[in-house]
Amino acid sequence: MTNKLITYSAEETKNFGQKLSAHLQPGDVVCLFGNLGSGKTCLAQGICRGWGVQEPVVSPSFTLLNEYTARHPVYHFDLYRLKSPSELLNIGFEEYLYGEGLVLIEWPENAGSQLPQDRLDIFITIRSPEEREFKMIPVGGFPMDWDIL
Ligand SMILES: Nc1ncnc2c1ncn2[C@@H]1O[C@H](COP(=O)(O)OP(=O)(O)OP(=O)(O)O)[C@@H](O)[C@H]1O
Ligand SMILES: [Mg+2]
Repeated sequence: MTNKLITYSAEETKNFGQKLSAHLQPGDVVCLFGNLGSGKTCLAQGICRGWGVQEPVVSPSFTLLNEYTARHPVYHFDLYRLKSPSELLNIGFEEYLYGEGLVLIEWPENAGSQLPQDRLDIFITIRSPEEREFKMIPVGGFPMDWDIL
C-alpha cells in the first residue's frame, strides 16, 4: 500500500482528480499543498469534472473563492493572496467548511489554524517539467480508500 502517485501530464492529473472525486462526499475538505504551477488547479479541475461541474475551473486569483454548481456545490478556495487567516472570518470560511458542499483549498497553509480537523491533505511535488508526485495524507477522521491509487 502506498499513499503516493506520480503523473506525467496535466491530463493524467485531471484523470486522477476525476477518479478521486468518486470517493469524495459533500462536506469533505481537500487541501491542495504545492508550489506555484505544481498542479493544484489541475487536480481541482479533474475533481470538478468528476462532480459534473460545467463551468470553467480556474485559480480564483482575484477572489478567494469560486463557487461551482454541480450535483452538490463545490467551493474552490485559493488562499494565495490571503494576508492573514483572520480575513477568513469575514468571508464566513467556517460555514463553507461545515456546509453541504465539497471544499477544495489551494494554498491551505495560509489558513493557519482555521483548517478543519478532518480533511484530506494532498502534497504535490514538481519532479520534472511534466512529472508530479501526489502524496495523500488523511487527517483526523477522513476515510481513505487506498485502492483508488
Ligand atoms: N503531471 C502534471 N500534472 C499537472 N500539471 C502539469 C503536469 N505536467 C505539467 N503540468 C503543467 O503544470 C501547470 C500546473 O498548473 P496549475 O495551475 O494546476 O498549478 P497550481 O498549483 O494551481 O499553481 P498556482 O499556485 O499558481 O495556483 C500547468 O501548466 C500544467 O500544464
Ligand atoms: Mg492554482
